Amino acid sequence: MKSLIVFYSLEGHTKFIADIIGNNLGSDLLELKPEKEIPKTGFKKYFWGGKSAIFKEKPNLQNKIPSMDEYDTIIIGTPVWAGTYAPPINTFISSVQMKNKRIAFFACHGGGGAKKCFEKLEEALKGNTFIGEIEFKDPTENEREKVTKEIKDWITKYLEK
Ligand SMILES: Cc1cc2nc3c(=O)[nH]c(=O)nc-3n(C[C@H](O)[C@H](O)[C@H](O)COP(=O)(O)O)c2cc1C
Repeated sequence: MKSLIVFYSLEGHTKFIADIIGNNLGSDLLELKPEKEIPKTGFKKYFWGGKSAIFKEKPNLQNKIPSMDEYDTIIIGTPVWAGTYAPPINTFISSVQMKNKRIAFFACHGGGGAKKCFEKLEEALKGNTFIGEIEFKDPTENEREKVTKEIKDWITKYLEK
């Protein structure tokens, strides 16, 4: 059976991690793209992004979401926004049927951690088995080696079981 990485990334940190997990696991990748992206700079970014996350908005996506039937493992990646997952992930979760899947999470944050975000994802995805989670604080290209090792160890410990 196959694995799918579904993720959203406004500023590239979550995408950086998604690509490394994908390379090491050989998964398909689905990068969620909202039809209308929020501004990427300054106060507007936090205002519109924060509001959208707090009000649990479900922005329309450019993507056509594939059926989850062919995947047994789904790895969901998100930046932490206002303590929760980003709105495009909300759109994804509410537009697919997901039961009895193996699900793992990864998240990037600015220092506040991802514990609450992971709890909220588990709550939204009841009926599945949660096999692992991993978080990073604004990972960047110059940390590639360290991050790659961490991800390889995580895959061996949780995802390949
Ligand atoms: C709208 C918005 C809300 C955010 N809220 C949080 C937060 O509650 N806690 C936190 O630690 N970081 C927060 N951040 C920082 C991002 O989670 C962090 O920079 C992350 O690495 C960005 O990932 P990306 O580059 O994939 O978009 C927020 C960023 C934005 C744009």
